[in-house]
Order: sequence, then C-alpha cells, then structure tokens
Amino acid sequence: MYQHLDDGSTTACYSHESLKMIERQLAIIVPCMNEEVLILQGALRGIPHHCLIILVSNSTSGGFKAERAMLDHFCASTQRRVIIVHQADPGLASVFSAAGMPHIIDHGAGLKSQNSAGRVRSGKGEAMMIGTVLAKLNGKQFVGFIDADNFVPGAVHEYCKVFAAGLYHALNSPPLGPYCNDNTAEEQPLAMVRIKWKSKPKIVDGKLVTQESGRCSRVVNTWMNRLLTSITGHDGHADFIKTANAGEHAMSTNLALQLNFATGYAVEPYQLINMWERSGAFPPTSPGTPPGSGVTNLQPASPAASKLKVRILQIETLNPHIHDFGKGEEHIARMQAQGLGTIYHSQLVSQKVKEELHGYVTEDLGIITGENGVPEEARVYPPMGGMDFKVFEELRQCYTSTNTT
Ligand code: GDD
Ligand code: MG
Repeated sequence: MYQHLDDGSTTACYSHESLKMIERQLAIIVPCMNEEVLILQGALRGIPHHCLIILVSNSTSGGFKAERAMLDHFCASTQRRVIIVHQADPGLASVFSAAGMPHIIDHGAGLKSQNSAGRVRSGKGEAMMIGTVLAKLNGKQFVGFIDADNFVPGAVHEYCKVFAAGLYHALNSPPLGPYCNDNTAEEQPLAMVRIKWKSKPKIVDGKLVTQESGRCSRVVNTWMNRLLTSITGHDGHADFIKTANAGEHAMSTNLALQLNFATGYAVEPYQLINMWERSGAFPPTSPGTPPGSGVTNLQPASPAASKLKVRILQIETLNPHIHDFGKGEEHIARMQAQGLGTIYHSQLVSQKVKEELHGYVTEDLGIITGENGVPEEARVYPPMGGMDFKVFEELRQCYTSTNTT
C-alpha cells in the first residue's frame, strides 16, 4: 500500500502477513568465527521465528563444540530448527570440489598425510557461499546475512524485518529509475536489500559515543561513489551509495547463485561492482578479466547471468549497530584494502579515478597494499548456479541439523 506525501515522497506499508510470507522463504545465514557464544545466542534469538537459521562456523574445535551445545538448548527452548556446519569440514571441501567449485578449496590446508581433500578457504565470503548452498538445498527463495557478533538482538530483529519488507517491496512495486525499466513482466525481479545503520556507536571509557558510520564504510563508500559518479556521469550520485560494506544484507537466492562472490571481506563491496559490471548498462573502460574467468570454465548460471537486472534497496534502520569492535587496527586496514581493491580492479573504473585512488591509498591511507602500492585484487569465484546441485545432496552428511520439532 502506498501513500504519496506533500513533499513528493511516498510511504509504502506492508502487512504482517506479507512479511511472514517472505520470512517463511528466508534463510538467515550467520557466519561465525570464534565469537562469544552468549552474544551469538542473543543474535540468533533476534531472528524471526519463521526464518531458517544457517550457522556457518569457522571457530576452533572447542568453540564449535560450545556453539553446538548452545544450539541444542536454543532449538529445544524455541522449538525451531537450525542448521550448523563447520567451514573446515573436509567432507564439505570434497563435495564442493565434486560439484564443480574446486576454486574454493585451499589444498594446503588439512593433513596431506591422510590424503586430505583440503579445506574450504577461510573467509567471510566463503562462509556466505556455503550458507547459500544450504539455503538452496533447503528450498529457500531468499538469503539474508547477519553477523554473529551483533550485541543487540533487537537490532538483528529489525534487520530481518527490513529484509522481509525490502524484498517484498522490490518484488511487488512497479519499476523505478532509468536502469530498471526493462524488467520482463513474467520474470520475478532479482532483489537485494542492503542495511544502512542509523548509527554505529562505540563505547569509549564506558560511555556510548555516537557516529554515523564505521571507519571502513566511510572510506569505501566515498570511493564507491566516485566510481558510480564517473560511470553514470551523474553528480547526484556523489553520496548515493551508503552501503558499500553492508555486512547485513539479503537477496533472492537466484541472485546469490548468479553473482560472483569475492573472498573474505571483499564480498559486500564486490557485489555492487559485480552487479554494475554485469548489468550491461555501463561500458567497460578496460578489458579486465571477466569475473571468475581466471579460475574456471564454468558456464554462467543461466542465460540471464550475462546481463543482470537487479533491484537494489538501501534501507536505513533505527537501532544502533553495536558489534565487537575490538578486532584491531589491522583488521580494519585489511577490510579497507579489500574493499578499495574491488574498485581499483573494476572493469568500469576510469584511468583518472584509478590514479586518484592509487594516490589516496599510498599517500593518505597507509593501508596494506600489494606491489607498488596497488591494492590487491580479490579472489573471485564463479557463480554458484553453475554447480551440480545433485552432488550436494551428499552434503547432508557434513552438517548437523539441530531440530526439536
Ligand atoms: N564462518 C566464518 N568464516 N565466519 C567468519 C569468518 C570466516 O572465515 N571471518 C569472519 N567471520 C564472521 C565473524 O565471526 C562475524 O560474525 C562476521 O563474520 C563479520 O566478521 P567481523 O570480523 O566481525 O567483521 P567486522 O565487524 O569488522 O565487519 C563487518 O562489517 C563490515 C561493515 O562495517 C563485516 O560484516 C564486513 O563484511 C562488513 O563489510
Ligand atoms: Mg563485527
């Protein structure tokens, strides 16, 4: 339902039933590496009851054991089902390999003496890929991602409600904007919802200090907007992207299967780059390497994969985003470098923006870079939709489904 306001804006309202319909089809994937179990439990409790929870852990064996024990209790007390898998499970690596995604395997990991098949590489992007496969195997039409170190369960709840409302809106509203007017009516539009936090407070000397965005987002958003302005030639885009690093986001499972996922923390910024590069709306400025071509011969997931049309919503939430911010300066620097690397190596970046970014990275930022101060190019995987999903049925042996009903 829409209401047009005097200031030219429009309010959209959706019923509780409409949101529930999306939630029943939504898998919430929680990547988790050595987070405090009590914090993780709080985050899980914030996830609406009808969503399927998929926890992809990369924790130590002790941490994983504690997570499983917590889940048993959580599932019994809430009467719900959670899937839990460990990223370094060797069985998972062999199934990914057999299904046609050997690129995700680190063959140096694991015990060679036991003829190990290696392990799925560490990284948040890789955890998200595992979760997406499990969502698809469980028949879910949408995937959402929530970090395990969210301190405020109410914020998690709001993110999930916003995922549902945003996805519903994207799938049911008329096409808007210059790049959206050629969606074919019979196809369900591909949709993505990216969360923009209202504030990201820090605790300094026991006091809550508000700030609008995190250090990484500030830098990566700025350069993502420089890129967007240069490719669209539209000055109004100077402050348009507010969610380059949206750790919390959701999308159609079909979109997740068609996208090229990037490794680690490059995953969210690269989604934007990948969708713009593959939209067919912007001519490449450099030949570059087509996404995934350096690592595979897999065919795109579907004919549509070569010209992606996606409705992307950036939605601001009300709760403060408070998470574990004690992961260190190097952690932030690595994340900035990974984000800026996706922009620097994009096929769409102009020489001018590239040179300016290079200057910024080497002179002002002082972050980890590769040779000659060039940000490293992220590892990018082929679309998961090209894999043989029948093989994945074997995956069931690698995960625990904690289920009390
Ligand atoms: N399974 C798995 N494997 N989980 C991981 C891994 C991994 O290799 N690495 C990190 N995680 C989990 C963490 O435990 C956490 O739940 C979530 O992924 C995010 O990782 P953090 O290390 O907490 O990242 P951050 O808080 O600094 O950054 C977050 O926000 C950024 C935007 O500010 C992330 O979501 C980033 O991706 C995002 O860009
Ligand atoms: Mg965090």
